[in-house]
Amino acid sequence: MKIQSPPGMRDFYPDQMCVQNWLFDLWRSVSRSYGFQEYEGPIFEYLDLYRLKSGEGIVSEVFAFQDRGGREFAIRPEMTPTLARMVAARANALPRPIKWFSIPRMCRAEKPQRGRLREFFQWNADVLGSEDALADAEVIAVAVEFFRRAGLRDEEFVVRVNHRELAAEVLAAHGIDTERQQAAFQLIDRADRLGELEFARQWNESFAASLPADSLRALLADDDLERCCAHAQRAGQAGAAAAQALRQLWERLEQLGVRPACAFDLSIVRGLAYYTGTVFEAHMRQGGLRALAGGGRYDNLTGLLDGPRVPGVGFGMGDAPVLEALRQLGRLPQASEQLDVFVIDADANLFPRALTITQHLRRAGLAADYSYRRATIGKQLKEAAGRRARFALIIGEELDQRGELGLKDLETGAQRAVRLDTITSDPRAVIGVGGPMPGNTGVSPVA
Ligand code: HAM
Repeated sequence: MKIQSPPGMRDFYPDQMCVQNWLFDLWRSVSRSYGFQEYEGPIFEYLDLYRLKSGEGIVSEVFAFQDRGGREFAIRPEMTPTLARMVAARANALPRPIKWFSIPRMCRAEKPQRGRLREFFQWNADVLGSEDALADAEVIAVAVEFFRRAGLRDEEFVVRVNHRELAAEVLAAHGIDTERQQAAFQLIDRADRLGELEFARQWNESFAASLPADSLRALLADDDLERCCAHAQRAGQAGAAAAQALRQLWERLEQLGVRPACAFDLSIVRGLAYYTGTVFEAHMRQGGLRALAGGGRYDNLTGLLDGPRVPGVGFGMGDAPVLEALRQLGRLPQASEQLDVFVIDADANLFPRALTITQHLRRAGLAADYSYRRATIGKQLKEAAGRRARFALIIGEELDQRGELGLKDLETGAQRAVRLDTITSDPRAVIGVGGPMPGNTGVSPVA
C-alpha cells in the first residue's frame, strides 16, 4: 500500500532543506541585528491555553487530542499564548524590554492552499514590557528589514497598519457595540477570503441594521491617516489615545527608515481576540496571496493568564507564504549543500591515506568527503563537481616522492601543489575555505 504525506504537510528533501535553512538563517540574523534573543516552547500545550487566549477562529483550527488521563491538548497553532505563558511565569525576573524571537513549527487544520498549509514554520518577533509606540515601530521595522534583505523592493510589498480602537470607533459610531465588535472584527478579517458577495451576505445577516456591508466598505476604504485620527479624536478618550499612538508610531517608522514600506489601512483589524492596539499585516502589493505576516499589540494577554500585566507587541510570519511570494517573483535562492573539499586518490592503494587526510580536514571544520568507489581521477573529479565541491585534493605518487598533494580549484580549474604537513597542521589556512568553526556559537564551555 502506498502512503503519501498527509495533505498540507511537507517533506523536505536536501535541496528544499537548504532553502528552508537559508530562510531560517535570514530570520535569525535579522532578529539578532535588532537585539532579539531566541526562545522555544513545547510543540503542544493544554487546549485551554488557546480557548482562553486565541479566540474561536483559531480554536476551530487546532489539532486537538486527549492523553490517556483524558487531559485535552492541542498542537500549537500559534506561539503568542506560549510566549505570554512563559513571560507571565517569570515576569518579575526578566529585564525589560523583553525582545524575543522564535521559529516554531506549528499546525492548523486549515484547507491547504497556496501559501497556507497544515504544518508550517512561523517566525515570531515580540517586544514585551513596553507600551511605547517605539516597540510597535521596532517590530514592524524587523519585518520590513527581512523583506528588504530577502531582496524585495519597497514597491513590491507593503505593511498595512491600523489601530483596533480606530476601527472600533467606526463600528461604535454606527451602533455596533463592544460586545459585537469581536465578531465584526473576525468577519472583516476574513473578507478577502470570503469574496465580496459572500462577505456582504454574512455581514448583512448580523449587522445590516446598524451598518450595511456597502457602507462599511466605503468607510474602511478611507486611507487618510490624519482624517481618520481626527474622527477618532472627536469620538472620545479611547479614540484620542489611539490617534495619538498611531501618530507616534508613524513618526518612529519614519525615523527607523521603514515608513516607505508602510501604509495606513483602516480595513486591517486582525481576527485574533487578544489584540488591543496597533494591528498590522504584510502583503505583496500584487499577486493575490494572503498575508505574509500579521501581528499587533496585546496588552492584556499575560494578565489573562493570572500573571502580572506585561504589555506586548509582535508579529508572526509563515515560511510558506514568504517562499511562495519569492517563487512567484523568481527570486527564490538557488541553495544546495556544498562541500569544501573532495579528496581523490590517484590509485586505490592510496585510499587509506586519503581517509586519514579527510579526517584531518573534517576535524578542522571543513566539509570534506570522498568517493565510495575506487575509480579514475577523471571520474572522481566528475563526482566532486556533482557534489558541488569547491576544491579537489588529489593524492598521487608525489606524496611519497615529495610529500606533496595536488589542490585543484574546481571553479577556475587551476591546480597547485600543497605540502602534506601544512594540510594536516592547518588545512583551513592552506585551502582558504570553510565558514566559522562549528560549535563557535558564543556558548562558553562549562569548566
Ligand atoms: P496569524 O495572522 O494567525 O497571527 O499568523 C501570522 C502569519 O503566520 C500569517 O500572516 C502567515 O504568514 C502565517 N500563517 C498563518 N497560518 C498559516 C498557514 N496555515 N500556513 C502557512 N503560514 C501561515 C498569529 O499567529 C499571531 N500569533 C502573530 C503574533 C505574534 N501576534 C503577535 N505576536
